[in-house]
Amino acid sequence: MHLTTLTVALFAQQALAQGRAPMMRFSCSQLVTDRIDPLVNPGSIPSPHLHQIVGGNSFNATMDPATHDLPTESTCTSCTFSEDFSNYWTAVLYYKARNGTLRRVPQFPNVGLEGNGGITVYYIPNYDGSKVTAFKPGFRMLVGDAALRRQGKDRKVCHRCMIADGDRNNIECSSPDTQHLPKEACLGGIRTVITFPTCWDGVNTDSPDHESHVAYPPKGTFDNNAACPSTHPVKIPQVMYEVMWDTRPFNDKADWPEDGSQPFLWSTNDKTGYSQHGDYVFGWKGDALQRALDAKCTGNECSVLKVQSDAEAMKCTKKPLYQEEQDWITELPGMETTV
Ligand SMILES: *[C@@H]1O[C@H](CO)[C@@H](O)[C@H](O)[C@H]1NC(C)=O
Ligand SMILES: *[C@@H]1O[C@H](CO)[C@@H](O)[C@H](O)[C@H]1NC(C)=O
Repeated sequence: MHLTTLTVALFAQQALAQGRAPMMRFSCSQLVTDRIDPLVNPGSIPSPHLHQIVGGNSFNATMDPATHDLPTESTCTSCTFSEDFSNYWTAVLYYKARNGTLRRVPQFPNVGLEGNGGITVYYIPNYDGSKVTAFKPGFRMLVGDAALRRQGKDRKVCHRCMIADGDRNNIECSSPDTQHLPKEACLGGIRTVITFPTCWDGVNTDSPDHESHVAYPPKGTFDNNAACPSTHPVKIPQVMYEVMWDTRPFNDKADWPEDGSQPFLWSTNDKTGYSQHGDYVFGWKGDALQRALDAKCTGNECSVLKVQSDAEAMKCTKKPLYQEEQDWITELPGMETTV
């Protein structure tokens, strides 16, 4: 099911009321949960920690841009827009019961969307409606740091303790959102937000740290109208992920740690929450993304793009390359659980 016309109208109205141009916002269902990372650990099966991945099914341990063309090699995508064979991935949330048993926290669909709850993907144009340039084939980037265990300077990755009946506001990672994981039981689950940079050096589709070819504007992560720095002059759409974690089945405090701390941890062996991160490998077919940006597509409807049903999108899955137990375990995949 797609957003009804009314919901889309409300969504656009709200975007405009917030001083924002309409933006693409669509669902990508789960493709696979696997211990590979073609960006940070190319060729490694397994990679150090577990990821959940959405998008085109050509996702693989090695995705060398010189030889791996995502739209050509994929036969399906788990995203609503069926010309989007990009891959999007994040860490996975676990719940640790008092007796040490680790459960994978299920994901659920975001407000106004259907699917099996992989990642909600946004492509946000300039608020003033001026031109943004779509990514080039081979483009990839990374936000966040799996090794981070303290608050970062910028609000790039954050969490919201959701109220019982959902929440369609986005207040750009400021209060009540936090960079750490919520400390209380959240009646509506936990939402992760991961916000990518909006400025590109115009030359390199990647960089050794997968970050320095892109930049946030000097005025901050969310200021899409701010001019780009001269080192990164090209405006790119702001890619943003929202991931809805259904922590509701785990809200019984009788089974939370005896010291009263919260029981959730990332697959990076991190209870603070700061290590959540997002990876992006561009894989739209031809000029489909530029067309959609130029047409100012809104929500998950777009007259210039091909759209598939959620049922169709959910059929696009693949088996993990690395076979291991991912649920009802006592150590996190790939590491000793020390938190
Ligand atoms: C992944 O890469 C391996 C090795 O290059 C290849 O044999 C395999 O077919 C690829 N799988 C997919 C789904 O593309
Ligand atoms: C550990 O706790 C979980 C959650 O309370 C429970 O479902 C599971 O059966 C327990 N496992 C053992 C080995 O006692």
